[in-house]
Amino acid sequence: MSTNILIDSVVSWEMPRLQLYTKQDWEENVDEIAKEWKITKAILTNDFKAELGESIVLRRKDQKVTLLGLGDTKSFKKIEDAVRSHVFKSKDKMGKAYIIDLHCLTHKLHKIIDPIISGILLGHYMLKGIAPQVDIHLDIPKKNKGKIILAIEDAKKVAEAKMWTMYLVDTPSNIIDPQGFADEIEAKSNDFGFDATTFRSREGLKTLGLHAVLAVNAGSSNLPSFSILEYTPKKPIANIAFVGKGVTFDTGGVSIKGSQNMHWMKCDMGGAAAVAGAIAAIASLKLPIAVTGFIPATDNMVDGSSVKPGDIIQSHSGKTIEIIDTDAEGRLCLADGVSFASKMKNFEHIVDIATLTGSSVMTLGYEAGALFSNNDETAELITKASDVSDEKVWQLPLWDEYAKGIQSDIADVKNYPGYPAAGAITAAKFIQAFVPEKTKWAHLDIAGVAFGANGYGKDRNATGYGVHLLMEFAKQVIKNNQ
Ligand code: BES
Ligand code: ZN
Ligand code: ZN
Repeated sequence: MSTNILIDSVVSWEMPRLQLYTKQDWEENVDEIAKEWKITKAILTNDFKAELGESIVLRRKDQKVTLLGLGDTKSFKKIEDAVRSHVFKSKDKMGKAYIIDLHCLTHKLHKIIDPIISGILLGHYMLKGIAPQVDIHLDIPKKNKGKIILAIEDAKKVAEAKMWTMYLVDTPSNIIDPQGFADEIEAKSNDFGFDATTFRSREGLKTLGLHAVLAVNAGSSNLPSFSILEYTPKKPIANIAFVGKGVTFDTGGVSIKGSQNMHWMKCDMGGAAAVAGAIAAIASLKLPIAVTGFIPATDNMVDGSSVKPGDIIQSHSGKTIEIIDTDAEGRLCLADGVSFASKMKNFEHIVDIATLTGSSVMTLGYEAGALFSNNDETAELITKASDVSDEKVWQLPLWDEYAKGIQSDIADVKNYPGYPAAGAITAAKFIQAFVPEKTKWAHLDIAGVAFGANGYGKDRNATGYGVHLLMEFAKQVIKNNQ
């Protein structure tokens, strides 16, 4: 890590200082600050009210202090974003070493320390090049110090996992191809504390029965990969699985996409990256739950050997699939992924996550992921997790009527109804056809939220959506089993 967070370190008076205030803390401290800086209270409160994201710079001699407001919100995302945005914009001016002063956060520091730490680290995340080394000295209050230090250590771990996910999504597909994805997983497994098994050849995937993944890969000169990530604590309270769509680039295949903004399709492994990041976070926090991640990775390319509309392909489950549209490739990868997972072990829940449909973007925009589940308990645990992580989800139905759209005349199922109605739902119905009825399963369509125009780059870039959500889901499963 090139951003160091230091506690109880020696600091110099001239180091720039960033002081954080909630509205309540500001109101209680403003008299003292006004006196200290010899500014009248009226002028100071006129310039700064500690609204969320508001900032002011105070200076005297060699000293520079920036005040940053956190408003009165408890929202993880809003606090994380306010801190990240400020750090992102001002980091060049803060230099190689600065102090973040949390002394004035007297009221609920333990509740807001996680998004603050995440915001600081994400603020230094860079899309290009290697981030310069920065030492951030945290000045924390004495009250509950031990507890706060532990919270800081944990928040750092989660933020590091999130930034790994962001890096996987932001890095172009010629740099992280399906083999590169497996390399990344292997390279990071030790640091984060999970086991990785990777399959990297067409023969290997064939032996595993991943025929639908191989069909997506048919037109590619890049070999596919299949990675299994396993984290097993000493006494697991439960056992869950995550499956992530790892399409490193989606041209659409023979049903080729338009060229406008096709470069965004490097984000089509956002589900797989969220699975990797979530398992990294769960493992580095040593949560008492066993988690297995399944990541089928391939690109979806156009070639003489590509799968074509009208073709019938095999799948891991034994069900045959008629291809109507080769651009509906993610569901093919997930079909094999969920089938493989359900046959490997009796998981208490299987959750898949994928940048799956433009339809989910049309429905929920860039604000929420679409949630589908065959089980109320699983859906409720994800919804609760989403309330904590502040990554919105909205449940859509899986009514039987929608299955009509995937009935085929000549195969067990088809991969697209052929009409553009309820596309996110019919995609979910397709995946459901590969999940055993008794398995508690949920599907998250994150096409609108994994990659976005968020102010941290000129073009769209990774959001890290899903890492915190899946980690929090694991915590909810633990709670539910206690
Ligand atoms: N990768 C896309 C979905 C997507 C859309 C991801 C926008 C990120 C942002 C997926 O494979 C796809 O092409 N879906 C098609 C399916 C259709 C052809 C049945 C879609 O949603 O248009
Ligand atoms: Zn596609
Ligand atoms: Zn896709």
